[in-house]
Amino acid sequence: MPTILLTGATGYIASHTWLSLLSSGFEVLGVDDFSNSSPLVLDRLRELCGTRPVFERLDVTDRVAMHALFARHRIDAVVHFAAFKAVGDSTARPLAYYRNNVGGLLSVCDVMQANGCKRIVFSSSATVYGDPPSLPIREDSPLAATNPYGQTKLMGETMLRDLGAADAAWQTGCLRYFNPVGAHESGRIGEDPRGTPNNLMPFVAQVAVGRRPHLSVFGRDWPTIDGTGVRDYIHVCDLADGHVAALRRLLDTAGCFTVNLGTGQGNSVLEVVNAYARASGREVPVQFAPRRPGDIAACYADPLLAQQLLCWRAKHDLARMCADSWRWQSLNPEGFQ
Ligand code: UD1
Repeated sequence: MPTILLTGATGYIASHTWLSLLSSGFEVLGVDDFSNSSPLVLDRLRELCGTRPVFERLDVTDRVAMHALFARHRIDAVVHFAAFKAVGDSTARPLAYYRNNVGGLLSVCDVMQANGCKRIVFSSSATVYGDPPSLPIREDSPLAATNPYGQTKLMGETMLRDLGAADAAWQTGCLRYFNPVGAHESGRIGEDPRGTPNNLMPFVAQVAVGRRPHLSVFGRDWPTIDGTGVRDYIHVCDLADGHVAALRRLLDTAGCFTVNLGTGQGNSVLEVVNAYARASGREVPVQFAPRRPGDIAACYADPLLAQQLLCWRAKHDLARMCADSWRWQSLNPEGFQ
């Protein structure tokens, strides 16, 4: 079976993808510098898959270490997760984002090319659509990054598109994630944000478990069903399976693609809060607060292209996303420890 290199392998989405790849029969080599993840993820993966994960600690911007890695392992394709991902942080530290996200992808592609490995799946984001003119969002919707984080995702996509155009041997898959939530059904791995969570569901989870007194709902005057923001929440295990489907396509079919990975369903903040309260049996107190700068009213995918190209679609509903998130949060109230 092909060997897949996962960069940023101990992060939230990558660790779930690692399990999906192993259960689909792929060999996996993981690398991470632990700049935003815990080495304990490796112990949990070992427990879940029954074998010791193959892993090396390294920073993908370190080309010497990357060349040495490729010299030691036969690598058939790369799934490149390693990146910074906080929008607010990116506006405060733009150079760190360009260096790590754009520089990291450049380093990975340079080393791949030098070693004749030309298949890559790239973690992009629905953030590349900015404030979309119409919904649901198709892949040909206009692109408009509104912050440095979004710019790095757009630049990554552009880099891969140009690479594919220059050399048909390159096969690239850009996956535009909508809002990943939930956790593995075992409750052994999940999202473990450092500090105060920026995103909705991890925040709600910490309120439900008693780490925070209430959720601030950013805006109740959006033009949506109940005035709160609407997003396309997708179970992280569905997202992980989307990577397996993307890799299968790259291994079978020449060419490059860019697809949305979402459910096609939009849910409001209050719908998420209510679903989480039902799943957890806990109260989730809310306080209404002003809109968050840079937010948009609504964002959800047209998932048809992924169904057609990858034969993939999301299976889990919001109730399941909340139930799995709650299992992870209640079994690991302080995250990986
Ligand atoms: C955010 C990022 C986006 C990134 C995505 C990754 C911003 C502006 N956008 O998207 O670039 O790709 O995360 O998952 O940061 N909300 C609250 N209270 C909270 C937190 C969130 O009401 O404490 C609301 C937001 O206003 C929004 C919804 O919940 O309506 C979802 O927010 P969030 O989880 O941060 O995701 P995005 O804003 O879609």
